[in-house]
Amino acid sequence: AGVFTFDPGFTSTASCESSITFIAGGKGELLYRGYPIDQLAEKSSYLEVCYLLLNGELPTTAQLEEFTHTVTNHTMLHDQMNNLFRGFRRDAHPMAIMCGVVGALSAFYHDSADITDEKQREIASIRMIAKIPTIAAYAFKYSVGQPFVYPDNNLDYASNFLRMCFAVPAEDYVVNPILSKAMDRIFTLHADHEQNASTSTVRLAGSSGANPFACIAAGIACLWGPAHGGANEACLNMLREIGTVDRIPEYIARAKDKSDPFRLMGFGHRVYKNFDPRATVMKESADEVLDLLGIEDNETLKVAKALEKIALEDPYFVEKKLYPNVDFYSGIILDAMGFPTSMFTPIFALSRTVGWIAQWKEMIGDPKLKIGRPRQLYTGATNRDYVDMAER
Ligand code: CMC
Repeated sequence: AGVFTFDPGFTSTASCESSITFIAGGKGELLYRGYPIDQLAEKSSYLEVCYLLLNGELPTTAQLEEFTHTVTNHTMLHDQMNNLFRGFRRDAHPMAIMCGVVGALSAFYHDSADITDEKQREIASIRMIAKIPTIAAYAFKYSVGQPFVYPDNNLDYASNFLRMCFAVPAEDYVVNPILSKAMDRIFTLHADHEQNASTSTVRLAGSSGANPFACIAAGIACLWGPAHGGANEACLNMLREIGTVDRIPEYIARAKDKSDPFRLMGFGHRVYKNFDPRATVMKESADEVLDLLGIEDNETLKVAKALEKIALEDPYFVEKKLYPNVDFYSGIILDAMGFPTSMFTPIFALSRTVGWIAQWKEMIGDPKLKIGRPRQLYTGATNRDYVDMAER
């Protein structure tokens, strides 16, 4: 017997020490290695942010060039991996494909299973950051029945991803720089978020000494849920289900009704109780993208804007500090770019891969590392004798 602290949902338990990401929920502040997210979203680029998260400092020009070069050289998937994609049903959800294919990387790179070797940890990290856009894009192409488009290593990270998703054989595809910037920003805003559910999953899996590909696959699986990364998909589906502005009050009433499990997707956050700083940047980006694409307010957008306004004013949402979160706006941008809702969470997974890796590396490098092993408060039957089948 022992006395344990009971903290369901870990609302007040620190599971580790970390020097990567800082969130001050009350102030709506998010810092990567001390740098505010809005400055990084405006001035930096995703690969620079990757370098920062992994190494702790911003790179010099030469360091960034070398890092970019290394990542770019690892974007291809072994051709044999294409067979894996083809093994899935053609209507498989891209997240199902991603869980499987990322986990399967460990079968292709046995050398990286040796996590005690720092060099192997580096190579595994680079491989995942480089290959995850290719995996996500192939999952998308497979789901729409189009041939895979190989990575083009002359393009930057975001442009290459857009091209792998949207280029069609025999047609020219030129990446629009504003869309590529918006894509890069979505990656940056999702890159890390301290000990959220999927990151904690990666750490817990990694604490047993499992190989890094298996750990990231575990993170992808956890991210999939609608309370976490799946919220962006669930949010757009909800906006479409609401359909027209006049139906909003019905959904607001449902969100407040404690006997109804329905929640307004894209609202609320465990840590942010003022505003989500990522949402502020994402909202600006959404306006820019819609403007560029000349997208007038369609019904979905009208519902989104009206819902945002009502939720920001309604006493229930104000009192409970439920503000639109990053996923409320990211779905609107991704939809405008032409992604189906099933690709929203894979794009989140792609972006978060670097954060998971940075956290995994930090943990593995810690000499005080212990396997994660929570305890429980047992509520089941006490000791009783086995009852023979005939007597039950
Ligand atoms: N709609 C209606 N009511 C809500 C919502 C919502 N979206 N979110 C929270 N509440 C209510 C909840 O019912 C509870 O009310 P009461 O105190 O009367 O019981 C109160 O607000 C506190 O909620 P909680 O469930 O205790 O808060 P939590 O910290 O456990 O949950 C959350 C945080 C994000 C899971 C939750 O707000 C939610 O389910 N939001 C919708 C899903 C979503 O958008 N998730 C994406 C989060 S941002 C991206 C990411 O990091 O993955």
